[in-house]
Amino acid sequence: MSCHGAIVGATGAVGHDLLEVLAARGFPLRSLRLLASPRSAGQRLTFRGEELEVEALGPDSFRGIDVAWFSAGGDISREYAPLAVAAGCAVVDNSSAFRLDDSVPLVVPEVNPEAAKGHAGILANPNCSTILLVLPLAPLHRAAGLRAVIVATYQAASGAGQRAIEELRSGSRATLAGEDAVADVFPHPLAFNLIPHVDVFRPDGYTKEEDKMLFETRKILGLPELPVEATCVRVPVERCHSEAVTVQLQRPLTVDAARALLSEAPGLELVDAPAASRYPMPLPMAGRDAVAVGRVRQSRVLEPGLTFWLSGDQLRKGAALNAVQISELL
Ligand SMILES: NC(=O)c1ccc[n+]([C@@H]2O[C@H](COP(=O)([O-])OP(=O)(O)OC[C@H]3O[C@@H](n4cnc5c(N)ncnc54)[C@H](OP(=O)(O)O)[C@@H]3O)[C@@H](O)[C@H]2O)c1
Repeated sequence: MSCHGAIVGATGAVGHDLLEVLAARGFPLRSLRLLASPRSAGQRLTFRGEELEVEALGPDSFRGIDVAWFSAGGDISREYAPLAVAAGCAVVDNSSAFRLDDSVPLVVPEVNPEAAKGHAGILANPNCSTILLVLPLAPLHRAAGLRAVIVATYQAASGAGQRAIEELRSGSRATLAGEDAVADVFPHPLAFNLIPHVDVFRPDGYTKEEDKMLFETRKILGLPELPVEATCVRVPVERCHSEAVTVQLQRPLTVDAARALLSEAPGLELVDAPAASRYPMPLPMAGRDAVAVGRVRQSRVLEPGLTFWLSGDQLRKGAALNAVQISELL
C-alpha cells in the first residue's frame, strides 16, 4: 500500500538524507510534500528524478498526509507534531522533543522493533550517537549482560546541521590561509580543533548530549538502571560519528566470541584486522547504512569487560535511515 508523505525540514542536513534514503529503499510513496521555513519556500529539490517545490510549514500542511518525518528541531516538533497527529498523520520525529515521553516509543528497529507497536501517533528517532551505540550494546547485553558503559564520542560537524558543515569548511580554508576561523554555530572554531561541548551544560557538569546517551540508551535497551558515562566531543570531521566504548559485563566474553556476535548483529559490520591496519574510520563510512565496529579487546580496567571502537554515518543510521526504518515498521 502506498501513502502520502511529508518531510518537515526538507532543506536541512537530515532532510537531504531523508530524500536519498526514501528513494533508495523504494519507500511506497504516492506523493511527498517538502516543508521548511518560509525562507526556503519555492526552492526545488529532486526526489526520484522529479523536481518538487518546497512549501512553508503551516498548520494545514498535514491535511491528507499519512506519514511525516520531522527534522526541523525540537520547537517545531513540539508545535506541529500534535497538529499532524490530529490530522491523522503518523509522525517520526528526529528531534529530542518527545524521546523520553513514556507514551512515545523510542525505536532502533534492529534493537527494539516491538516498541513501535504501542505508538499513539508520534514515534521518536533516538539521538544519533545513541543509535550508533545501542547497535553493538544490544547483542553484547543478550550474550553477557551489561553492567556499565563508558563512552567517548568523536562527533562530526554535520551532527549540528547544514550551517555547521559550512562553518567547518570555511574555518578550515581560513586557518590554512593564516586567517582567524569564525565560530558561529559552534562555541569555538572547530577546524584543526576538538570541542568537548555538544549541546548545553547541565549543573552537574555533564552536557545535555551526554544525558541523552544515558537516558535514551536505558529506554531503548529496557535497562532503567544501566550506568552510562559519556563524554561527547565535536571533532573536525564532516560526516560520521565515532565512539570509543568500554563495557562492563555480568559474565566474561572472549574477544573472539564478541567479534562473532558483532559480525552477525543486524546493522553492524565488523572491521577488525588491526595487523592489516583495518579498523572503523569515519571517511569510508560516509553514505553507508552499516555501522562499523572493531578494535575489540578485553578491558584492562572493568572486569569482565570489553573495549571497542565504532564509526557510523550519523546522518544515515543516526537519523534518516533509522527514521525511514521506523516508518517501515508501521
Ligand atoms: N544532523 C544530524 O546528524 C542529526 C542527527 C539526528 C537528529 N538530528 C535532528 O534533526 C533535526 C534537524 O537537524 P539538521 O541537522 O538537519 O538541521 P539543519 O541542517 O539546520 O536543518 C534544519 C531544517 O529545519 C528547517 N526549519 C528551521 N526553522 C524552521 C521553521 N521555523 N519552520 C519550518 N522549518 C524550519 C530548516 O529550513 P530552512 O532551510 O528553510 O531554514 C531546515 O530544513 C534537529 O532536531 C536535530 O537535532 C540531526
